[in-house]
Amino acid sequence: LRIGDPRLRQVAAPVEAFDTPELHELIADMFETMAAANGAGLAAPQIGVARRVMIFGIESNPRYPDAEPVPTTVLVNAGYEVLDEAEVSGWEGCLSVPGMRGYVPRYRRIRYRGFDQYGEPVAREADGFHAMVFQHEYDHLDGVLYPDRIVEKEKFGFEAELIDAGIL
Ligand code: NI
Repeated sequence: LRIGDPRLRQVAAPVEAFDTPELHELIADMFETMAAANGAGLAAPQIGVARRVMIFGIESNPRYPDAEPVPTTVLVNAGYEVLDEAEVSGWEGCLSVPGMRGYVPRYRRIRYRGFDQYGEPVAREADGFHAMVFQHEYDHLDGVLYPDRIVEKEKFGFEAELIDAGIL
């Protein structure tokens, strides 16, 4: 789904049952969608499913050539706490906001937790790109898109224009 579709603005509901055919199918669809678009992450609302499921991970990604690797992760019913109130800004893109980039402040260091598709707990501390990707995907579960969080409005636009202008 692309920005403007009201389904991206819903608050997604928690998953109630793990290790079900429905959940495995949803996650497989999400990985397929993310791979097809070279995404670094995806949240279920982006494919029209209002459930608190996110995936992320990158090894090497042409959309994010300078990003450090992030482990391939499935997170269901995730939550997080902020470990460092300091924020760091970085350029973000979103498969629901195609062709555009924005400079977004995020917490530098967080601890997130949730469950994988089998109901096994997952908990990690994350910083840098890893923390940014998590916070971006988590926002999707609450109907928040990265343009909502941009502070420096001139650092938002089509990628080609930002590059031409020397901003990105
Ligand atoms: Ni996104």
